[in-house]
Amino acid sequence: MANVVIAGTQWGDEGKGKIVDLLTQYAHCIVRFQGGNNAGHTLVVDGRQFIFHLIPSGILYENKKCLIGNGVVLDPGVLLGEMKELAENGLKVSPDKLMISENTHLIMPYHNRLDLASEALKKTGKKIGTTGRGIGPCYADKIIRKGIKIGELLDKDLFKEKLLENIDEKNYILTKQLESDPVSFDEIYEQYRKYAEDLAPYIGNVSVELDNARKSGKNILFEGAQGTQLDIDHGTYPFVTSSNTVAGNACAGAGFGPSHIDAVIGILKAYTTRVGEGPFPTELFDATGDAIQKKGNEFGATTGRKRRCGWLDGVIAGDAVRLNGITGLAITKLDILSGQPTLKIATEYEEGGERLACMPGNIRRVERLKPVYEELPGWDEEIGDVRNFDDLPAKTQDYVKRIEEITETPISIISVGPDREKTLLLKNPFEE
Ligand code: IMP
Repeated sequence: MANVVIAGTQWGDEGKGKIVDLLTQYAHCIVRFQGGNNAGHTLVVDGRQFIFHLIPSGILYENKKCLIGNGVVLDPGVLLGEMKELAENGLKVSPDKLMISENTHLIMPYHNRLDLASEALKKTGKKIGTTGRGIGPCYADKIIRKGIKIGELLDKDLFKEKLLENIDEKNYILTKQLESDPVSFDEIYEQYRKYAEDLAPYIGNVSVELDNARKSGKNILFEGAQGTQLDIDHGTYPFVTSSNTVAGNACAGAGFGPSHIDAVIGILKAYTTRVGEGPFPTELFDATGDAIQKKGNEFGATTGRKRRCGWLDGVIAGDAVRLNGITGLAITKLDILSGQPTLKIATEYEEGGERLACMPGNIRRVERLKPVYEELPGWDEEIGDVRNFDDLPAKTQDYVKRIEEITETPISIISVGPDREKTLLLKNPFEE
């Protein structure tokens, strides 16, 4: 029995979806614990592509329980849309396959409006590049204790009272401060009452469910969204998302005790990408960056935006190992680097005449960072069909071993293509 957390080590989009899908085979329960439908997990199963924003990808398997923890912010329209799409593909989602914590906060239509309207008013250089899904405003309401939890949706009077209070306040902000139109109480009330009917059978106590699963010897997989550098506390603030993306939040965001976590797998793409605004020290602005973007098909799964691409950053990888307590790394998209004559890895930063071994907290300093690179020879061979580490070209092995040395962390998994089988599972965290 083991409980394993998956965490992104970069700015999200590390290929977590595929690794979660791979490890789901060994898990009984798969839990989302933070973020919302700003995330997008793309998976390819038998040549069919699925993109999930909310439902854990474990839903594709039979006999797995998928759970949405209290730390998630949930847009019920999006969730029901995903359930419908799955049903159209022959995968019926039922309450024995999906449970939502009664404490999960709801994204309301005014959250999306506030997100977009406040971003639109920000000056160039100050925009965060949010996905516009209402994530930040929903978490803000949760923290200032004005949020509405999904369990409260089932109590008609309580829901009405809280919605009225919120609409008064939000319409004031929207119309008087953000030059936007007001939202309608009646429309939202009717729409969310309908959501309550549809979702009621799925709402429960996720913490108790997980505790029971643990006590009966079941394996639990905690599926993180986004990445360490987008963490609200530890990322490149303010160019971050609005939740703690680090592995520690698997506990708070699902109602699970930290002493029961056995392993943390950090997902590290073999190069770096970032979607949205904000500093990115190893970003490439040349043909190499373009080539990686094209070969890696680097487009945001949620917004379709082109992802910015750059060399592997060993500094943020080291930060991620420390911040998440990573016990093993999964290197993804290694195949995309085939054909590069030389590869670079940042091992330190330079700023103001100083060498830095970790990401500084001051955003102005972060913007000035210059990566200090180490160069490694590339390889020409395509590696998508390799299944054993020893069969990888020697230079590919050297690149992987160097990552292991820089991060002082063993490599557990290597992914060499989008399909489930294009994977080298060197060490299974559920079998440690
Ligand atoms: P928000 O989470 O929509 O508020 O967006 C805040 C920042 O996080 C923006 O730069 C987004 O592009 C980024 N972001 C949010 N979710 C993801 C993700 O799943 N992958 C990559 N970037 C993300």
